[in-house]
Amino acid sequence: MRIINSVVEMQQQADRWRAEGKKIALVPTMGYLHEGHLSLMRAVRNRADAVVASIFVNPTQFGPNEDLERYPRDFERDGKLSESVGVDVIFAPQPADMYPSGYQTYVEVTDVTGPLCGGSRPGHFRGVATVVAKLFNIVEPHMAIFGEKDYQQLTVIRRMVADLNMNIEIIGYPIVREHDDLAMSSRNVYLSAEQRGKALRLNLALKEAQGLIDKGERQSDSILARVREVLQPGEDVRIDYAQICRPDTLEDLTRVDDRALLALAVYVGATRLIDNRILTARS
Ligand code: PAJ
Repeated sequence: MRIINSVVEMQQQADRWRAEGKKIALVPTMGYLHEGHLSLMRAVRNRADAVVASIFVNPTQFGPNEDLERYPRDFERDGKLSESVGVDVIFAPQPADMYPSGYQTYVEVTDVTGPLCGGSRPGHFRGVATVVAKLFNIVEPHMAIFGEKDYQQLTVIRRMVADLNMNIEIIGYPIVREHDDLAMSSRNVYLSAEQRGKALRLNLALKEAQGLIDKGERQSDSILARVREVLQPGEDVRIDYAQICRPDTLEDLTRVDDRALLALAVYVGATRLIDNRILTARS
């Protein structure tokens, strides 16, 4: 496995692979890898000749009061883990190389960035779309894989790729969970033991919602009321949003008649956790 820090070197490597007719897969990450990230890497290992994992804590997607500085980092461990799942190249650029002085170009996806995390993290998806577009230009992948844990992010990337005619297959991968069903996240390390217990309420609420639908409930309001009860907001738990929306456009749904996305963002202590589930109603 090779580690490439320079943008130009990465482009040269990608050009060589392309010239050799190799299929390139990209797994964009911000590092501090866990089993969720590694599952994405394994999933493309079988489909591509060359697998690139990018590790870059992207400053443009963090708000001024967010955790950019304290975002967990462990590059050495990330290297070993990536190698163990067959990654060929880690691309780990420096912020100054990605955003040199004078930088002023951003990718703005409009409607699907409005609801959910778009409301509470203004500018976040502009940063995500911009860095992913840049990574696509640098690594020239044939395919790229993203987790459904960040459902809105995946929706934004699919929209960008379609709208800007990027010739890249976007693969979505199901949420990978801990043994107790907490969605894996690099940010879970922020949680104390007590907070981790409270974090389990997110998945319990998602399950409860599907349970209500199985019993015949169809009204989003009633389902969301129960979701809020299960989340038990209080001193250490604050609901950022709990919403039911269309899985494709992310527009609000007042009823669940077929498939709907239930998306949650909840602060447990100072840590913002997200989770989601596709709810299905059989008619
Ligand atoms: P990061 O949070 O490191 O996540 C990298 C990829 O891993 C994303 O596609 C994310 O959806 C996926 N992922 C994270 N936790 C997962 C889980 N429990 N199950 C399945 N997939 C999971 O998302 C980002 O980085 C950044 O926004 C990035 C796309 C790299 C742009 O900077």
